[in-house]
Amino acid sequence: MLDVSDFITSAVSPNKGLLMTTLAIKLGTPFWLYDASIVRRQIKRLQGFDIIRYAQKANGNINLLKIIRRNGVKIDAVSNGEIARALAAGYRAGSNDLVFVSDVFDQTTLKQVVELCIPVNCGSTDMIDQLAMLSPGHQIWLRINPGFGHGHSKKTNTGGPLSKHGIWHEQLSELGRKIKSSKLNLVGLHMHIGSDVDYKHLGKVCNAMIEAYMKLGMQIRAVSAGGGLSIPYHSDCKNVAIDYYAQQWNVARLKIQDSQTIPVQIEIEPGRFLVAEAGYLIAEVRAVKKVAERYFVIVDAGFNDLVRPAMYGSYHHICFIDPAANLVIGALHQVAVAGPLCEAGDVFTQNKDGTIEFKNLPLPKIGDFCIFADAGAYGSTMSSNYNSRPLIPEVIVDGSDIRLVRRRQTIKEMLSLENDDHLLEN
Ligand code: LLP
Repeated sequence: MLDVSDFITSAVSPNKGLLMTTLAIKLGTPFWLYDASIVRRQIKRLQGFDIIRYAQKANGNINLLKIIRRNGVKIDAVSNGEIARALAAGYRAGSNDLVFVSDVFDQTTLKQVVELCIPVNCGSTDMIDQLAMLSPGHQIWLRINPGFGHGHSKKTNTGGPLSKHGIWHEQLSELGRKIKSSKLNLVGLHMHIGSDVDYKHLGKVCNAMIEAYMKLGMQIRAVSAGGGLSIPYHSDCKNVAIDYYAQQWNVARLKIQDSQTIPVQIEIEPGRFLVAEAGYLIAEVRAVKKVAERYFVIVDAGFNDLVRPAMYGSYHHICFIDPAANLVIGALHQVAVAGPLCEAGDVFTQNKDGTIEFKNLPLPKIGDFCIFADAGAYGSTMSSNYNSRPLIPEVIVDGSDIRLVRRRQTIKEMLSLENDDHLLEN
């Protein structure tokens, strides 16, 4: 059972609460708030790795990327749009700054990575063939599926025989021959087995990496441990022991390095670890409904804004604050927190199979604010215009500096793509 004190300590501090209510009045709700100091704290925790490469799919706001870049973190991109975001944030193409990671090239992105000389992490042999044909000497990484994976949900498990990701580990000897004859420039090997992964599985990847290297039979300059590092979404979850994890990778690195003549660097590729805890979604309570003996608190953010609970049954700390930023306390009731969408699954408190969960929460009043914690990763980036609801604003707080880094999309902007229809053929 959740205790109200959890919310006070981990979800929202009094100062942040005040900032949230002030911004809610200024910008309207819902909106996202990111705390840059938490992103920097998380970057510091990863200093045991030679290179930190941020998986911007977790949160690609250009202004957040600029902060991340200034703190020495490199970046990956999984689409042409993400390449454009990285460049807009000051990352340089044609350097080790930016790597394109995918299992497939669409025609436009293939052209773009060739023109801009962006190193490519290939998750399929077709990518290798297509790149070799257009761009001899291009820098590549190989994303390997080691035959196992793990994630907080089946949908975030990216390894094993049911995963579409990576090159199957049994094809590595053959792949070594292909790369040698293709004249592509091999940088390193990469494994990302899933998101929010436990130690047991993460640890197994180090051995799988050594085996993959042996099978490939080529010298490499780097290995990437992928992302997947967990954060404590639940108050009873522990922080990942990063130093221990970095140490395990160092052992793997030395084994590989000792078998060849060039040094090997270790990269880590976190998404959520850098940004999840820095982000909050702030919504307003608009209805408090009694249904049988329990309550639905309905807020003005829906799964078009934060889809993780509806998509994976993910848990986010929820608390309510009043307009004066006091935490709402009082008798606990069985409460489900839901959004305004015309869809039964638009509920933030549900489990993995979609069953609605009623939590022990105090009852807020209309006009109070509902705060969703740990929402900085895969929050805004997974938002949509479902039910024709515009994308919501994003704010970064960095000490005393508070910036609106994305304004609210207008309904006019949302409709504008459909405004002038063109006859293509008759
Ligand atoms: N590297 C690769 C190749 C990836 O595919 C991913 C995530 C990452 C790194 C970063 O993973 P992270 O450290 O953030 O776990 N929407 C889901 C997560 C899907 C992640 C997809 N790939 C969620 O909300 O949990």
